[in-house]
Amino acid sequence: MKTLLLISHAPSPNTQRLRDAALRGACHEDIDNVRCVVKAPQDTTADDILACDAVLLGTTENLGYMAGLTKDLFDRCYYSVIEEKQGLPFGLYIRAGHDGTGTQRAIESIVTGLRWRWVQPPLILRGEWQDDFANQVEELSMYLAVSLENGIV
Ligand SMILES: Cc1cc2nc3c(=O)[nH]c(=O)nc-3n(C[C@H](O)[C@H](O)[C@H](O)COP(=O)(O)O)c2cc1C
Repeated sequence: MKTLLLISHAPSPNTQRLRDAALRGACHEDIDNVRCVVKAPQDTTADDILACDAVLLGTTENLGYMAGLTKDLFDRCYYSVIEEKQGLPFGLYIRAGHDGTGTQRAIESIVTGLRWRWVQPPLILRGEWQDDFANQVEELSMYLAVSLENGIV
């Protein structure tokens, strides 16, 4: 059984919808050998990352950057996981009211430092809320879980 760690910063009803969609995707009925652990960034420890086989991170953009709680996760865990988790399959979605690129750049730089592996390009859900955002996150999460199950990543 592989473990997909879904780290979701979900401070609003819409971002909670995205978290639920990510969980739905990872738990698709055709996926048998992947379990999904869902955590808020502030509850995620380095041990959670060390114990998982892939990470899907969802964050908001606030003030041109990733949410502070998301940054705190990297601040706390970076050096504890950098040696052991090189190559960790990674996916990202960003909920951004009007931009998202500052968050994307910052996380790309951190992920490069960690040597994690992008399973899909970062997904930015920008602008006014659209119900299709949840579908996009569900697809991303399902893709990650299927890739994990099949050993593609
Ligand atoms: C204090 C604050 C700062 C924000 N700054 C940005 C920003 O710099 N760029 C952006 O795209 N959205 C920004 N937003 C919008 C949030 O990204 C958005 O409200 C959040 O992702 C939740 O989405 P929702 O409103 O659909 O629930 C900001 C929101 C708040 C509360």
